[in-house]
Amino acid sequence: MSLTHQLKNIVVLVSGGGTNLQALIDAQERGEIKDGMISCVISSKPGAFALERAEKHGIPSRVISRKEYSDTINYSNAILEALKEEQADLIVLAGFMTILSEDVVKAYPYKIINVHPALIPSFCGNGYYGLKVHEAALSYGVKISGATVHFVNEEADAGAIILQKPVEVKNNDTPETLQKRIMEQAEWKILPEAVALFCSDKIKISGGKAFVIKD
Ligand code: GAR
Repeated sequence: MSLTHQLKNIVVLVSGGGTNLQALIDAQERGEIKDGMISCVISSKPGAFALERAEKHGIPSRVISRKEYSDTINYSNAILEALKEEQADLIVLAGFMTILSEDVVKAYPYKIINVHPALIPSFCGNGYYGLKVHEAALSYGVKISGATVHFVNEEADAGAIILQKPVEVKNNDTPETLQKRIMEQAEWKILPEAVALFCSDKIKISGGKAFVIKD
């Protein structure tokens, strides 16, 4: 590491419980995110439990409440301003349930990462978020689901895929049990892994696709 080496500022956007944020904090505290640090957590909801997780670990947080903005454009402008103030190098959508405008995506090409609780291109796109994803997987009857970490582009859940992990669907699953298994076995593993890879410049883009550089 050279003297000029700088840790990348990771800004995590949340809306709810923040278990994926917790997985990132745990990975950071285990020393697994070598070239970055979670510098700020931004919540779209006041009172989100994710904010308590940030506070407990001494991570600065801000609330930019979706309800206080009339539309996606105005809300996204407020987020964009905050990201600039925080000097974000990487933005992680960790259970962030709000759509951001094209302006945000264009300001940070291949710098915004999302975790989606299914194997994209299954059960993704507009309207597929949270438990709805697992309801759809169970109603289709798939035997394998999982999680995907991908870059965010202008289309919902359509950006370059970084990592995916399959998880077994069981006969007696409910959306809640499937969600829990996918979080534990996939999301909480591949999200911190992708963040660590990004911060160490181990993800390359070629032809609009993302490739992990193996040592
Ligand atoms: C996670 O399962 C995440 O993959 C999903 O919401 C949950 C948030 O949980 N995100 C989406 O559905 C986005 N399309 P968390 O707040 O405990 O991390």
